[in-house]
Amino acid sequence: MTSNQAVRHIADARDFGRIAVVMGGSSSEREVSLNSGHGVLEALKGRGVDAHAIDGIPALLDAVRAGHFARVFNILHGQHGGGEDGVLQGALDSLHIPYTGSGVLGSALSMDKVRSKWVWTALGLPTPKFAPLPRGADVHAAARTIGFPLIVKPASEGSSVGVSRVFAEKDLDAAVELAQRYPGDMLMETLVEGAEFTVSILQREVLPSIRIVPKGAYYDYNAKYVAEDTQYICPGLAGDAEAILRALALQAFTALGCSGWGRVDVMRDREGRNWLLEVNTAPGMTSHSLVPKAAAAAGIDYAELCWRVLETSFADGGRA
Ligand SMILES: Nc1ncnc2c1ncn2[C@@H]1O[C@H](COP(=O)(O)OP(=O)(O)O)[C@@H](O)[C@H]1O
Ligand SMILES: [Mg+2]
Repeated sequence: MTSNQAVRHIADARDFGRIAVVMGGSSSEREVSLNSGHGVLEALKGRGVDAHAIDGIPALLDAVRAGHFARVFNILHGQHGGGEDGVLQGALDSLHIPYTGSGVLGSALSMDKVRSKWVWTALGLPTPKFAPLPRGADVHAAARTIGFPLIVKPASEGSSVGVSRVFAEKDLDAAVELAQRYPGDMLMETLVEGAEFTVSILQREVLPSIRIVPKGAYYDYNAKYVAEDTQYICPGLAGDAEAILRALALQAFTALGCSGWGRVDVMRDREGRNWLLEVNTAPGMTSHSLVPKAAAAAGIDYAELCWRVLETSFADGGRA
């Protein structure tokens, strides 16, 4: 599935110039980012790209200002200047250095689950019923408007940290206490019982969906990074259902001002209705991450995927 604008492809690695692959940093997702970054670095080098590892934003900005790099492959994960929330994107814009993936607006909006949902709701895109929970909010009153079962989560974290499923009022305070340990606001939303999907976007093309079947109750931190028994089915659906899911993911991504590449998380209830959860603008790129799995199903191997993501640093290489 593709939109009708043409994407420019680069044939010669030299046309990319000297590349900084920025990874690591100081966010809670540092280790995952280092794994992703080393995978990307080796793949780009293997294709002849003059690529170099840089750890974190301060080192990157020093190197860029010293004129060492032509463009940036951003594989930092996380908020608060962690690289995925618009701060790095703004700094690079101000220095006129192109980078992969979404710009300031798409990165910042996607990092904020409440504001993502406000935008989708305004456009009539389906997302679970929710209540923002600023600190000090009356969580019991909010739960009465949402109803049980519900989910409590930090508004701006990743990797399922601080997320709880709450089936009864007696468990609400513990869920809020957990989510509160993370910086920023929280939110509460209807728990969708059904199947979980993620849809990857690459250069305005929507890759086959993946159905995630965790062994445990849901796709928690353990299922994401530790357990070996999470099942990934790709494509996750067939026929019209797959086409509808992919089209929704692209709408959700575009609505938040995202571009280049990314991943949209979606729940599908037992009646077959899709519900948008969130967009990830710098998703994992380890060998067992989800975007590489979806790309493989579309016939795009890992090195080609890294190359194409790097192409998104060109204005006509798949950015909005
Ligand atoms: N409304 C919901 N209904 C059912 N499961 C949910 C819901 N929200 C989150 N989850 C579960 O929690 C996981 C993490 O939530 P998500 O919103 O994707 O945040 P993040 O991945 O940034 O931590 C999801 O992958 C899903 O398994
Ligand atoms: Mg998610």
